[in-house]
Amino acid sequence: MIQLEGVGKVYASHANDERPIVAVENVSLDVPAGELLCLIGPSGSGKTTLLKMINRLVEPDRGTVRVGDADVHTVDPIKLRRGIGYVIQSGGLLPHRTVAENVGLLGRLEGWSRDSVRDRVYELLEMVGMPPSDYAERPPRDLSGGEQQRVGIARALFLDPPIILMDEPFGALDPVTRSQIRDEFLHLKQNMRKTIVLVTHDLGEAFHLGDRVALLHRGRLLQVGTENDLRQRPTDAFVERFVSGGAEAPVHG
Ligand SMILES: Nc1ncnc2c1ncn2[C@@H]1O[C@H](COP(=O)(O)OP(=O)(O)OP(=O)(O)O)[C@@H](O)[C@H]1O
Ligand SMILES: [Mg+2]
Repeated sequence: MIQLEGVGKVYASHANDERPIVAVENVSLDVPAGELLCLIGPSGSGKTTLLKMINRLVEPDRGTVRVGDADVHTVDPIKLRRGIGYVIQSGGLLPHRTVAENVGLLGRLEGWSRDSVRDRVYELLEMVGMPPSDYAERPPRDLSGGEQQRVGIARALFLDPPIILMDEPFGALDPVTRSQIRDEFLHLKQNMRKTIVLVTHDLGEAFHLGDRVALLHRGRLLQVGTENDLRQRPTDAFVERFVSGGAEAPVHG
């Protein structure tokens, strides 16, 4: 469903630094349809950059990205993003719009009728466990972190995209809400058959949620596999340290 082949991205240096920043280096990765792949790695290892290459929020300098059978470089980004839901850290909700308006955003942009937008919004709010009668008309600031996150997920599902990209979707939540939302999400996922790429700092979360885990370090993909693969057959000393909790402390950023 998603194929990355030798992708790389170099950013020009920060103001007082002469060396360019290699954010992603020669990464190849296949995500089959229906898989939930977790991208993990220390802060600055290139997770967000790699994720954004899939929906063309970042254009790679080299390599190719395929979604379905198309090279994304040849697909209109707006059209591409209709088929790819995107959930960003902390929900990214519009503060001056209601919950219903936030969830229905893509429907309005696509020219859906008011009634069909409303019906779909209500259906999605039910699905993420937020009864529309209680939540639809509230502003996002009145919601808890977990509720805002669910609104962000509902919004990403609006057009029923086959692919969902999630960048630290549970990162801002307290541990209790986090494990609750995570389990609700797993339950939701079982009924959806989506291809999902989810970025996380949290190794336990990656192993809990992911069918496979891809570990990035300094822009390079060190290993992709199941928990068992990474624990029993680490391909690299860094992988071994990371999975045993001894690597560079994963910092929330
Ligand atoms: N727009 C940009 N301009 C310049 N450098 C960038 C840009 N975006 C990212 N970088 C750099 O590229 C590297 C990878 O960044 P990226 O955001 O992909 O990391 P990350 O793994 O998502 O980190 P985090 O876990 O902290 O979110 C970092 O060194 C970062 O400073
Ligand atoms: Mg990031």
